[in-house]
Amino acid sequence: MESYDKAESLLKTYKQEHLLGFYNELNTNEKEFLIDQICHINFKQIFELYEASKTDEVIPTNLIEPLPYFDKEKLSKKDFDFFTTIGENSIKNCEYAVVTMAGGQGTRLGYKGPKGTFELDIVPKKSLFEITCDNLKKAKLLYGTTIPWYIMTSKYNDQQTKDFFNLKNFFGYPKESVYFFTQSELPLIDISGNLILEETYKVKEVSNGNGDVFRSMKDCSIIDNMKKKNIKWVFFSGIDNVILDIVDPLFLGITINSNFQAGSKTLFKKDPDAKDWVFARKNGKPAIINSCHFSSIMKKAKDENGNYLYRDINILAHLFSMSAIELLATKTFPYHRAFKKNTFVNDEGMKQVPDSPNTFKFENFIFDAFEFFDNISLLRVREQDEFAPIKDFNGIHNPELAKYMYEKKMNIVNK
Ligand code: UTP
Repeated sequence: MESYDKAESLLKTYKQEHLLGFYNELNTNEKEFLIDQICHINFKQIFELYEASKTDEVIPTNLIEPLPYFDKEKLSKKDFDFFTTIGENSIKNCEYAVVTMAGGQGTRLGYKGPKGTFELDIVPKKSLFEITCDNLKKAKLLYGTTIPWYIMTSKYNDQQTKDFFNLKNFFGYPKESVYFFTQSELPLIDISGNLILEETYKVKEVSNGNGDVFRSMKDCSIIDNMKKKNIKWVFFSGIDNVILDIVDPLFLGITINSNFQAGSKTLFKKDPDAKDWVFARKNGKPAIINSCHFSSIMKKAKDENGNYLYRDINILAHLFSMSAIELLATKTFPYHRAFKKNTFVNDEGMKQVPDSPNTFKFENFIFDAFEFFDNISLLRVREQDEFAPIKDFNGIHNPELAKYMYEKKMNIVNK
């Protein structure tokens, strides 16, 4: 009863009494679940985030400067071989690990089940997890080492993900080299500023963005695990880019040789006016900046050699040293607001599936990590070699195009 009073008073303070709207219809277990959940939600935090997210960040353009990058296509053979050898040696010395961030909701794709279990329609069909694993199996053959693979899940998809790996016998990869860890969650807020219910007895909470990865790695003892293995470099990517090279000795070698603690692969932004996240230096620190902050002159600005200055975009392919990860696990990341489609329970207790985005989600982004360093290495790669993500069925990043690009890269000819 004491907990009920606490929950009721919290809801009253934050004007969220509707969350107990079905309380009297619930069974004892459901009542306990709901009250416990409400007592553990940080309402202060979520409403502060909601209020703060109403105003956009303003960045004076004189605080934005270009960041140097390597262009894979323009490297001399000598440099290419030099960097690649450094990276290969690190991989062969078992210093390299991969983190796949698969805790997202995949709301745009709207596929039932973890996004990593979505199958690309190739022959034979392959799930996104298996495609990722193929890279690691190939590396095992090339370098003679089993690269440890760490997979970040959400509370929502963790069990389903693990079940899938068991069902598929870990795609033939050594089970003892695969580790799962789970990230945190935050409630969603609808357009009226209210938290929503997922079930009549459950407030909807969802994963809080891929930038939660470092803290989750610490909390789940993944950092300890990596340190015990003497891992020095960790590659981070999402689960949905079917052609990304996640074991790339060139990228690793460039970053090691630079003596920087972090690096990122980029893509050249062809359309200066397209909305993208662009690499640049902000307030003296490396950062990824929303292209809306660039003036039309900056969007087309070139250096003395005719190379564009602000045209490298983020493809979620990042490298961090072990000490960088330890540092980042102690840092607070900003939250970004995204507008996403989420099912909810309406006032009549019925589940509603919206046709369009209806809720604000608060997410940490992994790329905010770069601002904690003085420098990062950037390697510009080609779209046809490394960028074919699956985001939704009808948009530009659809499964059909991803399939086409995958087959092209793998040299698969369809009869
Ligand atoms: P996206 O931001 O594209 O999100 O994530 P998503 O979940 O795939 O899809 P939408 O936006 O809901 O449609 C890029 C990568 O980051 C991971 C995703 O799983 C994906 O691999 N991610 C995202 C997390 O691991 N956790 C999160 O909280 C969010």
